[in-house]
Amino acid sequence: MNNQDKIMIEKETTDKIEIKSKNGLNEQELEVKMDNMSDLNKTTNGLGEKWPEPIIRVQSLAESNLATVPDRFIKPPSQRPNETITINNQPEAAAINIPVVDLRSILSGNQEEKERISEACREFGFFQVINHGVRPELMAAAREAWRSFFHLPVEAKEAYSNSPSTYEGYGSRLGVEKGALLDWNDYYFLNFLPLALKDLNKWPSLPSNIREVVDEYGEELVKLGERLMRILSSNLGVNEEQLQEAFGGEDFSACMRVNYYPKCPRPELALGLSPHSDPGGITILLPDDQVAGLQVHHGDTWITVNALPNAFVVNLGDQMQILSNSIYKSSEHRVIVNSQKERVSLAFFYNPKSDIPIQPLEQLISSTNPPLYPPMSYDQYRLFIRTHGPRGKSYVESHVSLVNG
Ligand code: OGA
Ligand code: NI
Repeated sequence: MNNQDKIMIEKETTDKIEIKSKNGLNEQELEVKMDNMSDLNKTTNGLGEKWPEPIIRVQSLAESNLATVPDRFIKPPSQRPNETITINNQPEAAAINIPVVDLRSILSGNQEEKERISEACREFGFFQVINHGVRPELMAAAREAWRSFFHLPVEAKEAYSNSPSTYEGYGSRLGVEKGALLDWNDYYFLNFLPLALKDLNKWPSLPSNIREVVDEYGEELVKLGERLMRILSSNLGVNEEQLQEAFGGEDFSACMRVNYYPKCPRPELALGLSPHSDPGGITILLPDDQVAGLQVHHGDTWITVNALPNAFVVNLGDQMQILSNSIYKSSEHRVIVNSQKERVSLAFFYNPKSDIPIQPLEQLISSTNPPLYPPMSYDQYRLFIRTHGPRGKSYVESHVSLVNG
């Protein structure tokens, strides 16, 4: 398929969609974006090769020993975290935690455990997984390789500086709106699949083992993602290959965002990552083994995730909510920071093929269960967060179908 065809298809899929103006999403902006897409002088997705203003590396701010954070990082009072993390002492977080599931037990046929994962997907969209088959040494090696990378001087990393058109590389913001409030993190974004997008030259070359370790880590996480897909599919009451087929079969995609949250002098004013749901399929997160920070929105509170040693934290993205016609929920989450310890996390995203229409599975649709979402490609869907940045669950909530009036 050439580029022109691709744009035509994307435009066709988008034309069918009604976006309600809610939580800051507005139709005019979407139209502007679609106009941009037919303008071949711009990048294909209309996001451009340049950020709207000079990039501020959070690491540089953290290392300059400021007494406070710049205004751009100060959230309005209603969005500030109401408590700060106390390292190694979280009695409240221990009391309520997200469900823990044992993958080995599910794979050996334990129905009760399979039921727990199903519950977790419907209720929270979040769970921790243990006995997942990925070697703890590989997990630690991947995390420590990235930690070393982020400890390089900022100048050494600028060679990998990213742009909004693909987000690949070293970055410090999500969204391209000039003057937007910023989050307290730097990150690195890279692609694993499809292989045509996997470009080791865009991965860091230091520390010397990083490419090799990250490559193996990616392969293992793809296998884990495939196993989870089968379980989640079967828990919807459909064939266990159904979800994977809807992801484009073998042509699904996979990428990773490594987050670096430096120490923050005023953690009560800022956020490491603002509330959002992940736009894609399944996120498999390797949290920092030393420092908590991830919080899940549940009911009207934020639950701090207290990850077990060697566990992965799994959460469902918006494409899972769409494909399951809202039987599964994508989860709203955020990250808080602290003044005592930096934090490193690896978020691996198992996503659909990016240019095929994603819509509720046919098998889940009936006259009493009409489709809640119209078709849209993941490329198109992801433009919301890549343009406007993290905005809670507003994108998936706005993406409702008018099929039944
Ligand atoms: C993300 C994310 C959580 C974390 O990268 O989308 O939610 O703990 N990360 O860093
Ligand atoms: Ni996330």
